[in-house]
Amino acid sequence: MKLMGMCSMRGWKGVQCRKLFVFATILFAASIVYFYISEKREIVEFTEGPVTDFSMKTTTEVVNDNMLEEGYYAYERAAQESGGVRVIRFNKTANDVIVFVHIQKTAGTTFEKFLVRYQQNLPCKCQAHKKRCNCGRNASNETWLFSRYSTGWVCGLHADFTELVVNSCVQRVLDKQAGHKKKRNYFYTTFLRNPTDRFISEFRHVQRGATWISSKHVCNGRPASVNDLPTCFDPRIGWEGVSVEEFISCPYNLAFNRQTRMLSNLSLVGCYEHLRRPSYEQDKIMMESAKENLRNMAFFGIKERMDDSQYFFEATFDMKFSRKMSVWGKSKSNDTVLTASQLAYIRNVNKLDWELYEYALQLFNERLSQLHRKKRRLR
Ligand SMILES: *[C@@H]1O[C@H](CO)[C@@H](O)[C@H](O)[C@H]1NC(C)=O
Ligand SMILES: *[C@@H]1O[C@H](CO)[C@@H](O)[C@H](O)[C@H]1NC(C)=O
Ligand SMILES: *[C@@H]1O[C@H](CO)[C@@H](O)[C@H](O)[C@H]1NC(C)=O
Ligand SMILES: *[C@@H]1O[C@H](CO)[C@@H](O)[C@H](O)[C@H]1NC(C)=O
Ligand SMILES: *[C@@H]1O[C@H](CO)[C@@H](O)[C@H](O)[C@H]1NC(C)=O
Repeated sequence: MKLMGMCSMRGWKGVQCRKLFVFATILFAASIVYFYISEKREIVEFTEGPVTDFSMKTTTEVVNDNMLEEGYYAYERAAQESGGVRVIRFNKTANDVIVFVHIQKTAGTTFEKFLVRYQQNLPCKCQAHKKRCNCGRNASNETWLFSRYSTGWVCGLHADFTELVVNSCVQRVLDKQAGHKKKRNYFYTTFLRNPTDRFISEFRHVQRGATWISSKHVCNGRPASVNDLPTCFDPRIGWEGVSVEEFISCPYNLAFNRQTRMLSNLSLVGCYEHLRRPSYEQDKIMMESAKENLRNMAFFGIKERMDDSQYFFEATFDMKFSRKMSVWGKSKSNDTVLTASQLAYIRNVNKLDWELYEYALQLFNERLSQLHRKKRRLR
């Protein structure tokens, strides 16, 4: 405004002044644009994690490394490129990280305990009477294991695939711990279980007083609100002592098809909308997503197949446990008496999980025989 006043003079000086004014205006506009862009970059980096950064820098490498853009190990692609043989090389001195997706009541706790306590090749440092162990690399002290007993529930209680991968929580948390951004190779792992047994086990756990109410269910960059995800009980009271009838009749019960939901990319189906407005189309999308994500896992165990799961893990990562998981993984006694119609109902409300589980069993057997074949060849 002062500049404008100065430029109101006529003649040569006026022309110079007007040029100066135009120049200053352009400079001003450019700096606004610059600040806007850098601001936006910052927002993107801090809310969504550095995914954009990494995918831009590593697109060519990523494909060669059989990693998806997020640095997430793509088993399928790796296997195809090597003629069906699994080619995982977990490098403990580099930037490789095992991430465990812990679905409730699938023997996940047993597996996590084994990873930190009975795994001999890359031992974690555990202290007596402390739940958490230090699984840091010797040189950097940066963790090679993302799990309950190493990092803790840093991405939320029983964080799912959507929270860990789609919302880049693992990447963001590990960058924060390291103090800088870094490309890492993530080897995702999980455990699955017979869906009816898992559902009953979850029911019993809730009946004993557990609710997992503090799970955040982050999707599309934000935690689910009460509107997105109504609760089946008064959060101040909990759901202890709930009857089977009440448990299975709450439409928003997250126990239904939990395995499929926790392994799928929920951004594809409008997050938790499928609970309030179930649709065949959304179920199908969720199902395909869960299957795809399962295929890309470096390892997945099956609760009903503990010995085979142990072999699958040990052969995949070239790590050995000093004990047998099958001895530890025994579930508590089964005293929940259900009628035939209740069981049929439970099976029906978990039909996505049943489809996923049957698919997983088949995939599990295929991977297992690949591993056995490979071992025989190496001998
Ligand atoms: C593991 O990573 C380190 C550091 O990047 C590298 O020096 C080493 O050669 C790698 N080892 C294998 C077996 O790839
Ligand atoms: C750290 O060093 C110990 C002893 O040399 C070794 O057994 C262990 O595997 C190393 N851990 C990592 C993460 O490199
Ligand atoms: C390594 O990291 C753990 C946390 O993961 C921490 O408790 C420990 O003090 C660290 N050790 C060193 C030597 O920095
Ligand atoms: C999840 O789905 C969203 C929405 O389609 C997509 O943008 C994103 O890349 C997907 N992420 C993963 C890790 O599959
Ligand atoms: C519990 O027992 C019932 C009836 O004997 C059986 O049908 C069901 O599969 C069992 N569930 C578990 C979790 O073992």
